[in-house]
Amino acid sequence: MHFRKEYLPIPFTYKKPQTSTIFATVIKKETIDRIFEAAQIEEVIGEFVNLKRAGSSYKGLSPFSDERSPSFMVSPAKQIFKDFSSGKGGSVVTFLMEHEQMSYPEALRFLAEKYNIEIEETKQTPEQEEARSHRESLYIVSEWAQKYFKESLLNTDEGKAIGLSYFTERGFSKETIETFGLGYSPDKFDAMTTAAKEQGYGLEYLLEVGILKDKGKGVYDGFKGRVMFPIQNLSGRTLGFGGRTLKTEKHIPKYINSPECEIYHKSKIVYGIYQAKKQIVKDDLCYLVEGYTDVISMHQAGIKNVVASSGTALTSEQVRLIGRYTKNITILYDADPAGIKASFRGIDLILAEGLNVKAALLPEGEDPDSFSKSRKIDEIQTYFEGASKDFILFKTQLLAEETAGDPIKKAGLVRNIIESIAIIPDGITRSVYTKECSGLLDVPEKTLISELNKIRLKKQTDQNRKEAVKMKSQTAAAPPPFDEPPPEFFDPEFQAKAPKEVSKAGTYHQERDILRLVLNYGQTVIDVDSLDEEENEIIVQMKLADFVAEEIFEDDLSFDEPLLMKVLEMYLAELKVNEERDPVTHLSSLEDSEIRELVVDLVAEKHILHNWKSANIEVFTESDKMFRAVRDGLYAFKARKIQDFISQKKDNLKGFVGDSEDLMKLLSEIQELEEIKRQLLASQGIIII
Ligand code: UTP
Ligand code: MN
Repeated sequence: MHFRKEYLPIPFTYKKPQTSTIFATVIKKETIDRIFEAAQIEEVIGEFVNLKRAGSSYKGLSPFSDERSPSFMVSPAKQIFKDFSSGKGGSVVTFLMEHEQMSYPEALRFLAEKYNIEIEETKQTPEQEEARSHRESLYIVSEWAQKYFKESLLNTDEGKAIGLSYFTERGFSKETIETFGLGYSPDKFDAMTTAAKEQGYGLEYLLEVGILKDKGKGVYDGFKGRVMFPIQNLSGRTLGFGGRTLKTEKHIPKYINSPECEIYHKSKIVYGIYQAKKQIVKDDLCYLVEGYTDVISMHQAGIKNVVASSGTALTSEQVRLIGRYTKNITILYDADPAGIKASFRGIDLILAEGLNVKAALLPEGEDPDSFSKSRKIDEIQTYFEGASKDFILFKTQLLAEETAGDPIKKAGLVRNIIESIAIIPDGITRSVYTKECSGLLDVPEKTLISELNKIRLKKQTDQNRKEAVKMKSQTAAAPPPFDEPPPEFFDPEFQAKAPKEVSKAGTYHQERDILRLVLNYGQTVIDVDSLDEEENEIIVQMKLADFVAEEIFEDDLSFDEPLLMKVLEMYLAELKVNEERDPVTHLSSLEDSEIRELVVDLVAEKHILHNWKSANIEVFTESDKMFRAVRDGLYAFKARKIQDFISQKKDNLKGFVGDSEDLMKLLSEIQELEEIKRQLLASQGIIII
């Protein structure tokens, strides 16, 4: 049943989603389709997790957390996994991204190789092609330079005599040199320049990435006579270099680093992440150190979950990058108070991202490089574990010692500490800290809390507001049925008192439920009661998803919750692209985690029920009643929409200014809407929420 568009005061626009934006990759969509068709999720995940069959699904112990009883589920039918202990979920590609830390294209290539699928790349617009090939060229020359430096380290007399012997003296093993791709840049001004010309690599690209330099008098080697540390991205591609001189003259800078360029953004990468990511996930912890040599020595000593911010102050992007792998960071400090204090500002950034920060102080005179070189892994680990202190308490203690006996300095310190605490997103964590710090600073907890509240009140961010709205919609009671008088009927001041969000809660669940049915049974063909041209009752067969689309779009309706609407549109767009394939496969492997996790949750909800009820009956019952369920859901949704329109019109009525003709029109519109509502209800019995 549809109601006429002229009754709808709000213009609803249904924008067709562009499927091309779903995959920001150069791999052809057909190739991606083929990969998804071929890949068997239970087979791929089975290589990493011990899976046991449980009904139509597989179960296993969560590979993302320590657990005794299995809460990790793989569904071959839907080709998704859901980990109930960590909340992660998605397609086979998501699994590889989460578990193996692959990028999206890496995961696709991994699967293509496993299932013997040839990868075809998409054609791009000339501008895209140009931009890509420019960036690609920068990658290519950087990759070439890395190989060149490595060759010259390992296979030239000069490299062996100078570079390799330096690394060996530092205690770096052959394997370590290989792992980190270390190299040597010959001590000549034109070694690379000549090689690049000979081998046909564009000097303009080498200049752009800073490997070659030109200050107006001609091109020369930028890293002449240095040992080279390539800086690599998450997938091991070289973005830039750090080069250390082996000379001791004071005027020569010890390290030279690549300049920023189109492929190298210092603020977005941490040194060593490629070599560390797997271990970071395994240990659920990342050590943060100062530089190249610290990372390499610790890695060689067996502590592989370590990265460096490399000379620059830590940025939020770097923190977020680490945050993809763990929420726990431990910063290793040399025992140098000035250096430590200088770093405090950067650490507030980590707190703001909601990560847990600890600090560990190394013994006097040691840095992570020297410390890990002279000790065995057990000893190092034991020391780090013992020395790791919660960062806020560490900072408080350190500064409290300094300000002892100076009330003015102490007041500044208290404010400083409270500012760090105020940044922490989680309220419980904040209150634990205020309690602890009250003892350490010898200031009443109440004083700290009131100071904290002042600061937080001042910088109430969007984030807080968002959280508040979310909380409200989760806890709000279901709204009363609309065939009863609304609360304002009994209490004229109700409107002023009641928060607007309350009525949204029920809407959200209605919409979510419709989407859940579409995701689970969208391709199922159902019998739909309909009328033919002569108004005779007939039964039409159509896909459940098409039925929903027709009901919603023909009335120009839209979900109130944009995310739910977006997912529905994406589902329908995917179905148009390929009738045969289940769109859930694609939706559950999107890079956008918000969408992906919503989809997986909605699909997995069925399985939770399944577990509880122990048999297939639940699923069977639902598919059997599918048409009824989706129709009831849609009508309830529509009835609520109409109720919204009626309320809006009535609002107009309240402050009405205009002639009696307009007033009559408004009144008759309300009446007609009421009539549609009555019909909807009558056709359904009364279905609400
Ligand atoms: P170090 O000065 O200890 O460097 O700085 P090093 O190579 O270990 O030298 P020695 O043998 O102890 O004298 C530690 C880290 O700080 C960064 C580098 O990453 C280095 O690994 N650093 C240091 C720079 O980026 N630039 C510099 O000028 C100095
Ligand atoms: Mn050093």
